[in-house]
Amino acid sequence: MLSLQVIHGPNLNLLGRREPSVYGHATLDSINQMIQGEARQLDVAVELFQSNHEGALVDCIQATWQQHQGLLINPGAYTHTSVAIRDAIAAVAIPTVEVHLSNIHQREVFRHHSYVAPVAIGQICGFGADSYRLGLQALVSYLRSRDS
Ligand code: DQA
Repeated sequence: MLSLQVIHGPNLNLLGRREPSVYGHATLDSINQMIQGEARQLDVAVELFQSNHEGALVDCIQATWQQHQGLLINPGAYTHTSVAIRDAIAAVAIPTVEVHLSNIHQREVFRHHSYVAPVAIGQICGFGADSYRLGLQALVSYLRSRDS
């Protein structure tokens, strides 16, 4: 069975009460439940991780090495700043889908650039909590067609 790591970056633990007009009303727990439900439908295993700390996120990405076949990540604000997260994904060379609740390209200019995008298969943003579900589908579809 495919095993995937899902990573939520900084401040995403506050979903539900954090700027709901931008990020919606779904809590991280409810998003994680939705991801687990989608994973069951797709017949894949998922591990979930959230941290506000860049080094902890790097450690989690490094730990995917030979443990997981794919990575779904919302790097939060580190999307726009972190060479370390980008380098960790490149180092483990794990197929990665980048997701965001908001459409980062429609927002402030500093959110338009992603350090992660060049090392990801693709990016899904702007669909609220559904970005995670769509991202999981895209990742599984990519891995299954690559392996068939
Ligand atoms: C975000 C977008 C980022 O710009 C922001 O810093 C976040 C959340 C999103 O999911 O829309 O923390 O990654």
